[in-house]
Amino acid sequence: MGHWSISSPASPASPAPTPHSPLPTPHSQIAIEYNPQALVRGWAMTSLINVNLPEQSYEIAIPSVSYANAPSSLDQLGQQMASLKLGKKVLLVSNPTIFKHFGERAIASLTSAGFEVASCTLPPGERYKTLNSIQKLYDIALENRLERSSTMVALGGGVIGDMTGFAAATWLRGINVVQVPTTLLAMVDSAIGGKTGVNHPHGKNLIGAFHQPRLVLIDPEVLKTLPMREFRAGMAEVIKYGVIWDAELFAQLEASKRLDQLRYVKPDLVNTILIRSCQAKADVVSKDEKEGGLRAILNYGHTIGHAVESLTGYRLVNHGEAVAIGMVAAGQIAVELGMWQKEDTERQNALIQKTGLPTQLPSGVDIEAIIEALQLDKKVKAGKVRFVLPTEIGVVTVTDEVPSDIIRQVLRGM
Ligand SMILES: NC(=O)c1ccc[n+]([C@@H]2O[C@H](COP(=O)([O-])OP(=O)(O)OC[C@H]3O[C@@H](n4cnc5c(N)ncnc54)[C@H](O)[C@@H]3O)[C@@H](O)[C@H]2O)c1
Repeated sequence: MGHWSISSPASPASPAPTPHSPLPTPHSQIAIEYNPQALVRGWAMTSLINVNLPEQSYEIAIPSVSYANAPSSLDQLGQQMASLKLGKKVLLVSNPTIFKHFGERAIASLTSAGFEVASCTLPPGERYKTLNSIQKLYDIALENRLERSSTMVALGGGVIGDMTGFAAATWLRGINVVQVPTTLLAMVDSAIGGKTGVNHPHGKNLIGAFHQPRLVLIDPEVLKTLPMREFRAGMAEVIKYGVIWDAELFAQLEASKRLDQLRYVKPDLVNTILIRSCQAKADVVSKDEKEGGLRAILNYGHTIGHAVESLTGYRLVNHGEAVAIGMVAAGQIAVELGMWQKEDTERQNALIQKTGLPTQLPSGVDIEAIIEALQLDKKVKAGKVRFVLPTEIGVVTVTDEVPSDIIRQVLRGM
């Protein structure tokens, strides 16, 4: 087993938005406790959140950032995977930047727990989230004779997580995957829930599979090297959970003086952000694994967000920034339709602004082009665009009854 560094040729042009399906929603209260099981299993002050699924449930492990003497959870990766009785062979997948920071520590932890580890890095960036990269992973899996009991470990953000998950879903018709997310977005969103996939030249995330991880291991320490813009992108999804599901999380975010950089966020709030966001995602996925209904609420801010992302070529505006713009638009649409209080949309927008995320459309984006892009979106059914709209902080509903004129009017005001 060895290390492969893969540099791919340039790949596909601007992908378009992800397919989704819809439906309405109840919302739940979240109770957070430290699970005594965690201490039994040797996790120091770690919250374990369960994703309860019919076929294979799993845990999201989140150590407390303020527990000074706790060993970094990355150093416990091998031990925790060994406790799941996974096969001996592991393929660790990362990108060169992330591998440079954390790769050796992850490998050391895995080998000391008795795993045979091969590792590889894929080039960074959304444009390499392609079948071509997956082919490279298959080649390495073959070379290292990965078996049905083997495990692929994704050490990275959403791009590495989605690709590794997809390779694991399809190699030998499915082997284990463990997610070790290194961006805030991946920690609170993409590493949880089993959506895996790659882009097609004509569409983002068009190729994919549901494949749940065996474990999601979060190490908040790794966020210290995350670029500020990526931190903010993850915060957009955190704010989303506050609006769609967890009013208490929303209130705690409001109470913080600053949210624009990790170093200004108090450790207790970082814990709250990670725990409550992961709990929200776990709750929704546990109720609707394959997006038959409720899971669609996770697309709050994504309807217009995806259109903005795609019209700016996936470069000018990143995913989190596009979601922030989409939430501002969706909030205002809800106000125009008389579904949401104006004060609440202002509270949401203030939170987005405090995080340093955009609240206005990027200059040069044509409003008619957005309206057109919405029609092409995979969420459109029978010509109707579906929106997730808030009715109060912590509660949303799904509707396809938003007149184009209202969308146009709201976008003109941004
Ligand atoms: N599967 C899902 O449910 C789901 C949900 C949301 C988003 N996604 C996907 O996630 C992807 C976006 O993920 P992302 O926002 O994590 O971006 P990303 O994976 O591209 O990572 C962003 C950048 O941060 C760098 N980086 C990552 N961790 C770092 C660290 N700890 N220190 C320093 N640099 C670090 C990476 O090298 C990269 O350049 C998209 O492809 C999107 O489609 C999937």
